[in-house]
Amino acid sequence: MPKVNRRTLLVGGVAVAGAGLALARSADESGPRTPYFKEMQSALKDAGIAQPTLVIDKARLNENIDLLVSDLPADMGYRIVSKSLPSVDLLRHIRTRSGSDRLMTFNQPMLSTLSKEMPDANQLLGKPLPAQAAHNYFSSLTVEDKAALQNVQWLVDTPQRLNEYKAIADAQGTVLPINIELDVGLHRGGVKPGDDLATMLTTIHEAPSLSFAGFMGYEPHLAKVPSILGWQTRARETALGIYTQALAAAAAIFGETEINTVTRNAAGSPTYRMYKNTDVANEISAGSALVKPTDFDTELLQGFQPAAFIATPVIKALDTTETAVLEFADGMRNFMDRNLDQTIFIHGGHWLAKPEDPPGLRLNKTFGRSSNQEMLNGGAALDIKADDFVFLRPTQSEAVFLQFGDIAVYEDGKITGFWPVFPASA
Ligand SMILES: Cc1ncc(COP(=O)(O)O)c(C=O)c1O
Repeated sequence: MPKVNRRTLLVGGVAVAGAGLALARSADESGPRTPYFKEMQSALKDAGIAQPTLVIDKARLNENIDLLVSDLPADMGYRIVSKSLPSVDLLRHIRTRSGSDRLMTFNQPMLSTLSKEMPDANQLLGKPLPAQAAHNYFSSLTVEDKAALQNVQWLVDTPQRLNEYKAIADAQGTVLPINIELDVGLHRGGVKPGDDLATMLTTIHEAPSLSFAGFMGYEPHLAKVPSILGWQTRARETALGIYTQALAAAAAIFGETEINTVTRNAAGSPTYRMYKNTDVANEISAGSALVKPTDFDTELLQGFQPAAFIATPVIKALDTTETAVLEFADGMRNFMDRNLDQTIFIHGGHWLAKPEDPPGLRLNKTFGRSSNQEMLNGGAALDIKADDFVFLRPTQSEAVFLQFGDIAVYEDGKITGFWPVFPASA
């Protein structure tokens, strides 16, 4: 807060009666461009790119994949979360580098595409789809694609949905592998050990058209529980306890040996490092950590590097900040905040993303957001001109990656290829 010293001050044409300011002007947060982004900018310009573009740094991606794989305890499987890495070529690259043939898929169009493109990959649904979506999946496959069918684990959360899937399996004359969604504490649906679980296990056991593929128990809430007073440890023990009870219920019906071989899926990027052995889960899922959007800047994901950026051209660079209609207040506002010395308007905007380079760039709350030409401001040290690129870091990958067309692959200082993304779909 500025301090009043009872003098009249004229700033930018605004008379501030009796309110001279012992002036707490904010510091200029802008700074020179980092060499990393300068080089990426040259690569984009050399490639003739002049559109908002999603760029993946392949070297960083590879280091992230290697880090994740090297972290896993002995015999722990890795399932790649397709929705967080929504491009067939990107998934193909991760499969090759990680050696994983497991995917977690979240909608029917993606499931159909991946069944055609990667029939050898095992796909576990990450959410229970309406029975109609399963119907649509069957209709989308040709006879040749049907090889992928036994490689899909249908996630089911209630006895009712299980019956609907059984009806589909009967009508199709096929056997549907069923994975049961457990509520291990997240409370986003799924079953807990008890009557519903017992009913579902029995239904699967008795139906020739269903097979038991395993369990999925997702627990991102564990990463948010404070570790003080042992809260996190207790929440984790609760989750593992629920999972263990569910395994015992399944073993009682299918036998211990079978339960040792089924999928026991857990975790996501925020929690996979909590699994130090395969006593309960025998595979973990992770996707976002490999590109590390800002929501994943957590202690548990230390060592992972941001590997995906939005690059967008500067359309206009101005050496002041003017606010429509409120021009009369600009002088004072700009005087108080050194970070309003310069204004740029970028190509597009309003993404789930934060400005990253040049350093110190900020959104302008008064001007508001724009998907067409978004205003960003910086101080005198801001070093950017029209047609240069601004870089932003997505806060999450799943929606943001789908907004820019093909992903530009950045490697050894060049754009070396383009990876098409999936059509937008929740
Ligand atoms: C069931 C399930 N497993 C795992 C994940 C983890 O994905 P990510 O690693 O991208 O956070 C998610 C994300 O929503 C999920 O819903």
